[in-house]
Amino acid sequence: MQTEPLYLRGNIQVEPLVDQWYAWSHLLPPATTARNISERHLTIMDSYIAAPQIHENAVKNPRMLGGPFIDYGGKRVDEIKALRDDTIQKRSRLLELSKALTDLDAFLRMKAKGFSLQPLYQEIPEILRGYVELVYDLNNHPSFKLMEPLMYRSEFYDRSAQSLMLSLTSGDDRPFALSTPRLEDEGLLHLRIPFDEPVIDELFKLKSQPKPFDEIKEMLGINGNVQQRELLRSFLTETPPPKYVPYDGPGVRWRYFGHACVMVETGGIAIMSDPVLSYTYESDVSRYTYSDLPDTIDYVLVTHNHQDHVLLETILQLRHKIKYVVVPRSTAGSLQDPSLELALKHAGFKNVIGLDQFEELTTPNGAITALPFLGEHCDLNINAKMAYLVKAGAHSILFAADSCNIEPKLYEHLHDEIGDVDAIFLGMECNGAPLTWLYGPLLTHRIDRAMDESRRLTGSNFEQARDIVDRFRCKEVYVYAMGQEPWLNYVMSIKYTERSKPIVESNRLVEYCRSRGIIAERLFGEKEILLP
Ligand SMILES: [Fe+2]
Ligand SMILES: [Fe+2]
Repeated sequence: MQTEPLYLRGNIQVEPLVDQWYAWSHLLPPATTARNISERHLTIMDSYIAAPQIHENAVKNPRMLGGPFIDYGGKRVDEIKALRDDTIQKRSRLLELSKALTDLDAFLRMKAKGFSLQPLYQEIPEILRGYVELVYDLNNHPSFKLMEPLMYRSEFYDRSAQSLMLSLTSGDDRPFALSTPRLEDEGLLHLRIPFDEPVIDELFKLKSQPKPFDEIKEMLGINGNVQQRELLRSFLTETPPPKYVPYDGPGVRWRYFGHACVMVETGGIAIMSDPVLSYTYESDVSRYTYSDLPDTIDYVLVTHNHQDHVLLETILQLRHKIKYVVVPRSTAGSLQDPSLELALKHAGFKNVIGLDQFEELTTPNGAITALPFLGEHCDLNINAKMAYLVKAGAHSILFAADSCNIEPKLYEHLHDEIGDVDAIFLGMECNGAPLTWLYGPLLTHRIDRAMDESRRLTGSNFEQARDIVDRFRCKEVYVYAMGQEPWLNYVMSIKYTERSKPIVESNRLVEYCRSRGIIAERLFGEKEILLP
């Protein structure tokens, strides 16, 4: 019997996986999962099997960062082949579903010409029948709505595809996660636990509440295998983590954790935007990590459904601390805009609140209001994006994330509604990847390259950002969500130089603000501010 209480070490990386692929928010909804398996995972694996050396060279090329290339140095081809074959066999129904979505789109384009859609129901691919409603917009453009809640209840949502991969990490150097599947290896502890299992909370509670080893291995189902047992033991420690002291002063304390993750503590509550956290290890870049969290995070605010803003790896680890997750509502049923509420509920989050524009939550000393978020979604009809206005006592802080001010009139209207704002956090990633980088697998027919290049995931540039700052007469301006923190390379794949447009444009904004007596900074690493 080993009875001394043990904690989970602060540098144990826990990657959520779906069929060995890094799990992000499009790998929960059945339809987007099906599309990503067929159009992303299988395409990448096929390409690697055919020409591993092309991938080996591409991952070394900084210009190809974040591209569809497997990062195994051209090796382990047999294992990738086995994973591909296994996926084709296990996910045959999802592959059929994915093909049916392509077929349905093609069929609607050909046959739905403005007349009643009723006769067409019989021609819907069998596998999709009863899961879609055929619709026109007011200009007779046909499309379909997916019965998303029903699809989660069907054979298409398979929790057994989900697992967690635990490993020890000691630095920021993580390969880009979205293009390389995780293969079993020495030093990796693979736990086949679906995301909604309560034992996941028990696992992460171990960071602050210790348990005896026997109890831990029992709860994780690690018994017979000596190697696994030893590996698990090496992930645990008798040393308690440093105690966190919650902010109990007057006013507000906010802390920047990197990218779009900011924690606001005020009036005894904690509010965290877009959680993406670093593990705890020695580094040259000082930062707040998982060890700098209160016992309870009252509200997590998710601004939009991009992998750098709703990072499953982080929020699963925080789940046991979170009272409410606040998400933007989707346009029900469209493939490109899956419901974040449903996705997170199926990932085991009990209290998910979906907000629409101007819906508000009351907090002990203020309120959280959802506000429109323009652009940055390649002109796709996507509703799951909101900025949040956090009011705490006398202070108002706007978390605008990647909002792109393509229509300044909107901010004029918003100002009429909410008045001036003290501080704004705004992303200025104004290059932006082209549409296909993120949404490519969802397209059912090829998009012209020039169209693709023109429709980007673009945040505000200098003029657009300046217009927002002027409009709300902000006293403090923080450029954030720039993907610059080195511990986020594995999901961001962004490396800027001083000449990169987002840096040049955000420098201009900071200079502009400072020349007008406005406090301004592009955040990097960590920052703490106390407001009276
Ligand atoms: Fe974004
Ligand atoms: Fe972003």
